[in-house]
Amino acid sequence: MDVVILAAGLGTRMKSSKPKVLHRIFEKPIIDYVIDCAKSLNPFNSFVVINPSLKEVAEHLEKYDIKIVFQNEPKGTAHALLSALPYLSSDKILILNGDTPLLRKETLDSFIELFNKNRLDMALLSFYPQREHSYGRILRDGERKIKKIVEITDFKDELMLSSEANSGVYILKREVAKLIKEIKQNPNKGEFYLTDIVEIAINKGFNIEAYPLAEENELIGINTRAELSLAMRYLRDRIVREWMEKGITFYDPTLVWISPSVTIGQDTIIYPNVFLEGDTKIGQNCLICQGVRIKDSIIEDNVQINDCTVIENSHIKSASKIGPFAHLRPNTIIGKGCRIGNFVEVKNSTISDGTKAAHLSYIGDSEIGNNVNIGAGTITCNYDGQKKHKTIIEDNVFIGSDTQLVAPVKICKGAYIGAGSTITKEVPEDSLAISRTPQKNILGWAKKKRKQ
Ligand code: UD1
Ligand code: CA
Repeated sequence: MDVVILAAGLGTRMKSSKPKVLHRIFEKPIIDYVIDCAKSLNPFNSFVVINPSLKEVAEHLEKYDIKIVFQNEPKGTAHALLSALPYLSSDKILILNGDTPLLRKETLDSFIELFNKNRLDMALLSFYPQREHSYGRILRDGERKIKKIVEITDFKDELMLSSEANSGVYILKREVAKLIKEIKQNPNKGEFYLTDIVEIAINKGFNIEAYPLAEENELIGINTRAELSLAMRYLRDRIVREWMEKGITFYDPTLVWISPSVTIGQDTIIYPNVFLEGDTKIGQNCLICQGVRIKDSIIEDNVQINDCTVIENSHIKSASKIGPFAHLRPNTIIGKGCRIGNFVEVKNSTISDGTKAAHLSYIGDSEIGNNVNIGAGTITCNYDGQKKHKTIIEDNVFIGSDTQLVAPVKICKGAYIGAGSTITKEVPEDSLAISRTPQKNILGWAKKKRKQ
């Protein structure tokens, strides 16, 4: 079997400077979903038909082992298939629309199986959308055999009565595909409609069936921003449902966004307005509170991420508590049982087990040992205007509140830093460093001022 993905339409209904099939659902472009699904069937050859003016699409497809066919002018779906026809070598052709990303391999497997079992010449997937839509309608005769497909441009009132829609997924024999040459230009839109092949082939005695095997949430075609948003919701619902089946609790499954590539361990609880993106792995028994966004990160078991925390490209080891309002930027590693509290920003740093930075700190380019206490308002001054420098804090150090650590600097094991210090030199093991000016009390000064 050869697979042909039609993606040469201009997608004008999206009102976008970006080609339609490169719009994303989660991090992944629409076309990638279709290609991944096609590839999962192990076809003999896969082709994508694109418009030569959509250079971005051609560039994007370079990462795939897939053949590109150019349709020089967007003259309709039949014309698109015609452009690919000379390159096809298999007996059977599976046609997919590049704008129908939620289609599942399982559905295609059953569809192809029915086509083979019933020895058909052509089959198509149909469905019954639950909303107003612009899909082609399937018309059947008295014996419920498919007669033809009518496009929205050609609807007459009585045709609106059919609620069965065409998904744009077809499988057909090569001899049927060759009939596209007989398709006439549609008088209303001036395009050549692939859907017209059904009536032509039936009139020539070919055996065709339409199978309503899936629902709109799998067969949605994305033509507009509204449909893009619907597709995002459908995929979100599918993903969240699967995670619930695997033992994850959601306070409100309609208000979380979990990318297809994310994994979550059993008994984790997820509050609303949470975004889990990219290659994120969440362990078992975690608590992810509201407003959290985590991207490309590993969160081990029993971790609690409190409200409004952003975590990117980081690794948090078991039983740590992060947030609320924490920001963990790329290359951050937080050890076991750590506490990173409100308004703490960490970047490119390793923090070892049992260390606490509970309030209002900036930790950048640092290496921090076990059981360190970082007082409120501690800042690593890592940037001198030109270069970034490293701060090293060894095990069991106590940093008093409102300390500035001017990097490069090292605080050795067990040292204490007095609150309000600006540390510019290495602090030796087990010593106290204090750099604030001594306090002076002027007795009666305030009272005298008030009398003036
Ligand atoms: C098409 C079907 C409609 C079906 C719907 C399912 C036709 C005439 N209509 O309508 O029956 O219900 O899909 O989603 O086929 N394309 C090209 N070259 C072109 C025009 C389109 O490659 O010249 C590609 C598009 O990029 C798209 C696909 O073909 O991926 C379908 O085209 P689109 O314009 O979106 O057709 P619909 O109006 O959605
Ligand atoms: Ca479409």
